[in-house]
Amino acid sequence: MKQEMVIVLDFGGQYNQLIARRVRECGVYCEVRPYTMGLEEIRALAPKGIIFTGGPNSVYEASSPHCEKEIFDLGIPVLGICYGSQLMAYTLGGHVETAPVSEYGHTEVHVDNKDVLFDGVAADTVCWMSHTDYIAQAPEGFRVTASTTVCPVAAMSCADRKLYATQFHPEVMHTEAGQTMLHNFVRKVCGCAGDWRMDSFVETSVRALQEKIGAGKVLCALSGGVDSSVAAVLLSKAVGRQLTCVFVDHGLLRKDEGDEVESVFGPGGPYELNFIRVNAQERFYERLQGVTEPEAKRKIIGEEFIRVFEEEARRIGAVDFLVQGTIYPDVIESGLGQSAVIKSHHNVGGLPDVVEFKEIVEPLRMLFKDEVRKAGLELGIPEKLVYRQPFPGPGLGIRIIGEVTKEKVRIVQEADAIYREEIAASGLDKGLGQYFAALTNMRSVGVMGDFRTYDYAVVLRAVNTPDFMTAEAAELPWKVLAKVSNRIVNEVKGVNRVLYDCTGKPPGTIEFE
Ligand code: XMP
Repeated sequence: MKQEMVIVLDFGGQYNQLIARRVRECGVYCEVRPYTMGLEEIRALAPKGIIFTGGPNSVYEASSPHCEKEIFDLGIPVLGICYGSQLMAYTLGGHVETAPVSEYGHTEVHVDNKDVLFDGVAADTVCWMSHTDYIAQAPEGFRVTASTTVCPVAAMSCADRKLYATQFHPEVMHTEAGQTMLHNFVRKVCGCAGDWRMDSFVETSVRALQEKIGAGKVLCALSGGVDSSVAAVLLSKAVGRQLTCVFVDHGLLRKDEGDEVESVFGPGGPYELNFIRVNAQERFYERLQGVTEPEAKRKIIGEEFIRVFEEEARRIGAVDFLVQGTIYPDVIESGLGQSAVIKSHHNVGGLPDVVEFKEIVEPLRMLFKDEVRKAGLELGIPEKLVYRQPFPGPGLGIRIIGEVTKEKVRIVQEADAIYREEIAASGLDKGLGQYFAALTNMRSVGVMGDFRTYDYAVVLRAVNTPDFMTAEAAELPWKVLAKVSNRIVNEVKGVNRVLYDCTGKPPGTIEFE
């Protein structure tokens, strides 16, 4: 049976992926497609519903993204949001104009809750607005179903044709009953059963990957992080031994991490794939000798990583596909269905230039982090790996201030392992954004037993953060800090002092270099 699906047509709005995610939360599979998708293609895909996103344009500009009028005659329900609502009104003969004042942010809205879109919603509720133009007059055959003090047509519907539109954004959490409205659209208007779950994503992706890849050869740079691990397992399910995963151990991983990755993905593990671990530790230490400047260290680690990968790839020979574990937050949508740009500090950024391949596959590019984790659990990846904290590409290299040496790597690995163990034991791990130990470049005098010591200071960091762009230092219980400090100075040779970093971001950054 064909999987029921709703598509989001991207008119350049900021929240397009969020809409798709909210629809998936209603138990309905949803993907974002460019607004240029043709009617034939839509017919062939046969979605149960279409959602038009918002966008920064005005429908009257010639260069604005428009749609074919016939899209409204396909018999497929359409929900227009913000610009999408104006586009629906304009295309069907209503009137759109510049509002006398723009509305931005929380706005009180009065809705007609006899309309199916607002079923179960309070008549007076709060929505999230962000617009300059507005619908001044709904097209013929439409009923006005919501208004604000500024917007005469904050929502409209034509039940016979199953066309619905809201000027406000039901997908953002500031719209109090937004999820109910989306639920009403996909379940009651589109008639979706709502039985899609993450395991269906896994199944569908496996099938799509098999179709795409055929008998082709696939290469994946595995970092051991959540995203590349989930991508690798998905590919292994789809094409088995046509997949080769290269895992570069640069000697700057957390304690035992290299072995953990190997035990999951390597020979004897549960997955069918070719796994190559490159033990390049010494090479990295050698190149980092005497280097103290943070950017220089980052550059060396990045370059050396690519070089090692390139050597391995050369041994494998030309491949057909290169897998990237890009997830939605890594993708800056340029909107309007143009190709997306990837953030510069993406873990495997730079690889495409050095490997000969035909195409990049990014099976997770439409998922948010928590959705990737759900997919990982569905795929049977160990929880320990699925809930792993973010870890920077340059690894401990940027958590050791100053020169990196093998000895310093040992110190920071041991200290960090103790810190993570105690945070987990106290049950604080699930509530923190990121936490780790770093090694300062400072040595100070201490006393242990009857002896004077002159050893390093370890610094502990723990932050809470909505998005890793800003962060606050977490208030860890003193008891936990004291225990960690005590264990580190007692168990890690070369450390006689433990500090806690209270700095937020800004002015600090999360990492130290
Ligand atoms: P900062 O230190 O910039 O870190 O506040 C923000 C988040 O990004 C991670 N980070 C990196 N991740 N490659 C990565 O994949 C990198 O070069 C890199 N530098 C920082 C950091 O761990 C935090 O989660």
